[in-house]
Amino acid sequence: MKKILVFASGSGSNFQSMIDAIQRGELTAQIGALIVNKVGIGAIERAEKHQIPVFYISEKEYSTYDAFVQHLVETCLSLNPDVIALAGYMRKVPKQLIKAFDGKILNIHPALLPKFGGKGMYGHFVHEAVVASKETETGCTVHVVTEEFDEGPILAQAVVPVYETDTPEQVQKRVLAEEHKLYPKVLQKFLTEFS
Ligand code: GRF
Repeated sequence: MKKILVFASGSGSNFQSMIDAIQRGELTAQIGALIVNKVGIGAIERAEKHQIPVFYISEKEYSTYDAFVQHLVETCLSLNPDVIALAGYMRKVPKQLIKAFDGKILNIHPALLPKFGGKGMYGHFVHEAVVASKETETGCTVHVVTEEFDEGPILAQAVVPVYETDTPEQVQKRVLAEEHKLYPKVLQKFLTEFS
C-alpha cells in the first residue's frame, strides 16, 4: 500500500478530503502520519478521529534551525512515505527535506499558478488579490515543491469563475471545494504513475 505523509498547519480540510477519498476507495493509499507545526489546529483533531499518528515538529521547540531540520528530515525518512502532501502547511519547506524527497513533495495552492503565487500569497491574501485585480476566473494548482516558493512543476489545475459581486470569502469557498476534489485525484495519479 502506498503511503502518504501529510503536512498541515490549519483546519486540515484538504487532509480530510484525502481521508474521505481513501474511504470511498478513490485514493488507494494510506496516510502514514500527519506532521504539524502548530498545536490546537483542526487537522490534529481530524487525525485523532481517524487514528492517524501526529508528529508535532515546530522550529520553536529547537535551539537551532539545523536541529529542527534534522529532526524533521529524520522523522520523515523513518516514516518512509511514497509522497509528502503539503495541505495548508504555513512554513517554507527546508531545502534539506526537498533534497531528501526530491520530486516527491506536492503542494496545493489556492490560485492558478503562476498567477497569485510567491511570498505573501497565502490564505485570504490570495483571494483578496484575485478580487482586487478583477479576475474573471481563478482556481487551484497542485504542484511539485521545489526550493522556489510556488514555482515547481504544475501537475494539475482546476478553474472556477469569479463573479463581479464576489467577496474574497466567496471566492475562497468556491476554490476550496475544488481543492477537495483535485488533490486526492492528483495524489492517486501521482502514486500510480510516478512513485
Ligand atoms: C488551502 O486553501 C490550500 O490551498 C492552502 O492552504 C489552505 C489549507 O486549507 N495551501 P485546509 O487547512 O486544508 O482547510
